[in-house]
Amino acid sequence: MKENLISRRANSVGRTKIRKMFELEKTLDNVISFTVGEPDFHTPEHIVRACERALAEHKTGYAPNQGVLELREAVAERTLKTHGVKYDPETEILITAGGMNALRAASEALVNQGDEVIVPDPYWCNHFHHPLMELGVAVAVPVDAASNYMYDVARLEGYITEKTKTIILNSPSNPTGRVMDRATMKKLCELCIKHDLILISDEVYEHIIYDDTEFVSPVMFDGMRERTILCNSFSKSYAMTGWRIGYAVGPADIINAMLRINENTLASPTTFAQYAAVEALRGPQDDVKKMVSSFEKRRDILLEGINKIPKLSCPKLQGAFYAFVDIRGTGLSDDEFCERLLLEKRVSVTPGSGFGANGAGHVRMSYALSEDDLREGLLRIGEFIETL
Ligand SMILES: Cc1ncc(COP(=O)(O)O)c(C=O)c1O
Repeated sequence: MKENLISRRANSVGRTKIRKMFELEKTLDNVISFTVGEPDFHTPEHIVRACERALAEHKTGYAPNQGVLELREAVAERTLKTHGVKYDPETEILITAGGMNALRAASEALVNQGDEVIVPDPYWCNHFHHPLMELGVAVAVPVDAASNYMYDVARLEGYITEKTKTIILNSPSNPTGRVMDRATMKKLCELCIKHDLILISDEVYEHIIYDDTEFVSPVMFDGMRERTILCNSFSKSYAMTGWRIGYAVGPADIINAMLRINENTLASPTTFAQYAAVEALRGPQDDVKKMVSSFEKRRDILLEGINKIPKLSCPKLQGAFYAFVDIRGTGLSDDEFCERLLLEKRVSVTPGSGFGANGAGHVRMSYALSEDDLREGLLRIGEFIETL
């Protein structure tokens, strides 16, 4: 067998710590899992019905590579409503297989070997992996509690070189559950314009936001429409993770490049699932509201519970369904903490260092689980801390 059988592209990425924890917890009984990054709700009935109708109407052939036009139109309507920006469904919108495919296609369309892509550290692992898969460089810019786990724009500027091509933004954020405020977003946009950079804005948690926190997107600022790719998904907002439908919205030349890439990978996302996504956008939004208020209640339970446990802390959470908990007070490394907590108390959480070097000393907890499990999990974590 050839020595270099496996490509540099494939070898540029490994398995994530989330997967490793997930696989370990599957070997044990009675585990309360805070590792899973998906809503524990079913897809709303009216969306499922729309899919059934599409199937009954035999919408089972190939869809256009760019996605069903009706869905692109629905995305344009929605983006105008939420972002106040008009996009042309013919040229500026691409339907993708989830947010993941939108983000990966954006990276494939923009990143050449050696190009630098800025990602926040802690990051969502795929944001870090995508540039590596283009043989580019992922430049991890530390973000921490002092800047609400969002970019400190002055600090970020220090990481920009002539090779920097894009910046990845994720607000609300996985893994930290924080949201970028308007003033910081304005500074970030000014920086992108100053250095002629493209901003890839991952907005898959756009609707999962709490209290009076404002959702701000870069395209709401002057001069950003032409340099921003919005990546969004039905997975989280509509509990449609398995349907694999998302979209990218951006300048026509970049969307066209992504379209050519996707034409050579997936051809197009599943046709009847796209009709269900039209219903998700145009149909009633009550289920989304119910789901978000349920997450908000769990967020409160989790924050109160964690902050009562000595040696653990998590100051605030504004969106998504993740808590990034500081465990440095325990004296354990995050890997050790997670392994011991799982083996000794059957509670599974993810080591923060799995999300970048700057995540060390923290653990990520997804609170997409029932209130009963949440309370039981917190109880067991409290007991574990007492044993230390
Ligand atoms: C920050 C972030 N972006 C994108 C995605 C991709 O989701 P999907 O491909 O299911 O739309 C996820 C999923 O976990 C995520 O957490």
